[in-house]
Amino acid sequence: TGPLVLLGIETSCDETAASVVRQAADGTVEVLSSVVHSQIDDHAAYGGVVPEIAARSHVETIDGVVKRALVEAGCDWSGLDGVAATAGPGLVGGVMVGLSYAKGVAMGRGLPLVAVNHLEGHAVSARLGRPVAYPFLLLLVSGGHCQLLEVRGIGDMSRLGTTLDDAAGEAFDKIAKAMGLGYPGGPALERLAATGTDAGAERFDLPRSLLGRRDCDFSFSGLKTAAARLSQGLETEADKADLARAVQNAIARQLAERSVRALDLFSESHPDLDRPAFVVAGGVAANATVRARLTAVAEARGFDFVAPPMAYCTDNAAMIALAGAERLRLGLTSDLAVAARPRWPL
Ligand code: KG4
Ligand code: ZN
Repeated sequence: TGPLVLLGIETSCDETAASVVRQAADGTVEVLSSVVHSQIDDHAAYGGVVPEIAARSHVETIDGVVKRALVEAGCDWSGLDGVAATAGPGLVGGVMVGLSYAKGVAMGRGLPLVAVNHLEGHAVSARLGRPVAYPFLLLLVSGGHCQLLEVRGIGDMSRLGTTLDDAAGEAFDKIAKAMGLGYPGGPALERLAATGTDAGAERFDLPRSLLGRRDCDFSFSGLKTAAARLSQGLETEADKADLARAVQNAIARQLAERSVRALDLFSESHPDLDRPAFVVAGGVAANATVRARLTAVAEARGFDFVAPPMAYCTDNAAMIALAGAERLRLGLTSDLAVAARPRWPL
């Protein structure tokens, strides 16, 4: 078959996003537009995302965001081969807004509808920047998820490990909140950590959870409690910066240590692959210290480390459009009756 041009829509959390992506028959991907309207200002005063405010804001902005994505792509409705939208998991009031909009477009324009799992979007996000061959090992680290997955193809993944409590992004957010930093916490904590020193960070004794366990799971709640307690006695900005750096180092270290097991399992089940890819995706993939740690373990095990371009680490619709194109190519389209799902494990 020929090239496919997909409109993608993402509304599962606090960004209203739309994008037009073209996938050539040989798999080459071109992002024609990617519009992201962040609601951060609407939620900042509450220190986190308020579902009702998010849903209302999606309703107000979705139409303008989609139209802008079409204009920026130089594309009108007739140039589309299909429309893809996140159908879950996420805040269901928001998911319904984007999914309903996509259903309207599909019905009105006679286009195929593709319901996309948000996590599957993150899973293909690295392919927006460069080709990545299946199968690959994926570390998905976002605000809601922390999982290691073997990705054999679209709709064909198995989980090697997951978090027993908080997600990595959630740990960043909660610790940042305890330290009085802004929302979202990840980027704020990374900025503060940059002004601290590793020598200063070392004086903080943070737990190394699950060390030595022979599985691929994660746990951040011990680290969160310890960091919140340590943050209380701090006198100066410099002390705070050192603690931020210690927290960031500890999260990055655990992500790397636990990934090593999955890298070994993946290698055992694919002995024929020459330099397979180890892909990190999701908001936490934007963190430079996390990337550096993961690059080191990937290199040591003979994997090619791949991260999406920065703009496609956090939530966006280009990844949803691409997952939609890959699904459409396989004939994996959805019925107009498809429902929004608050929970939807891969
Ligand atoms: O993928 P994403 O935009 O939304 C979800 O699907 O959850 O991820 C958002 C998460 C938040 O927890 C945010 O604090 C974290 O990613 N994050 C970061 C950074 N940028 C975003 N964490 C650490 N360092 C960053 N630079
Ligand atoms: Zn996400």
